[in-house]
Amino acid sequence: MSWPKPSTCRNCVGWSWGCDGYSRVSGENRISLLIVGEASGSTEEKRGEPFVGASGRLLNDALRMAGLRRADYSITNIIRCRPPGNFLKGAPYERAVIDHCKQYLDDMVAQLQPKLILALGDIALRELSTVAGSISELRGYLLKSRYNCPVLATYHPAFLMPRKGQPGAMHLMGVLIHDIKRANQIARKGLPAPLPTSYILTPTTADIRDY
Ligand code: URA
Repeated sequence: MSWPKPSTCRNCVGWSWGCDGYSRVSGENRISLLIVGEASGSTEEKRGEPFVGASGRLLNDALRMAGLRRADYSITNIIRCRPPGNFLKGAPYERAVIDHCKQYLDDMVAQLQPKLILALGDIALRELSTVAGSISELRGYLLKSRYNCPVLATYHPAFLMPRKGQPGAMHLMGVLIHDIKRANQIARKGLPAPLPTSYILTPTTADIRDY
């Protein structure tokens, strides 16, 4: 079932895009991890829910392979509706719609108080983290976010999917699953204690051999 945009969207440049689709936050929030993607696609627009199209199926597969239940997590997007032609990154309206939609994410974070946010893809990483860098540089690290919980970023499922003559990057599925597992673990149990370290400043030949 599609959801009409709320009246708070009226003064957004996306109000005139002609699509009603506004996706709610999905999930039961049993685990304090908020998963944030980019924007609705056409299936999300029709159903009023995030990640229910092709990317959503890949996200579901990754969660299942990580041994997790999708319904346990809250899932949303940086922008709640669908940009024309699914074109957001680099679009002239990109900054304006993201800034306008921030109010919904701020409300969600205030309400859900997640222990950790899992950012899917470049746009979510850029908008949520205070650290600048690409997904391939920063994925898997626990980063400071603009909320009072950390953010961990990973690849967007759509980046992995082969399409329009592009091979995709399905070889990164294991990385996506690994990052999801790590995010789940941190949200449930906190950060693992660092491994004990000790330094030998003047190693003997035997120390070097042992090492
Ligand atoms: N569907 C979503 O809900 N979000 C994305 O970022 C991509 C597809």
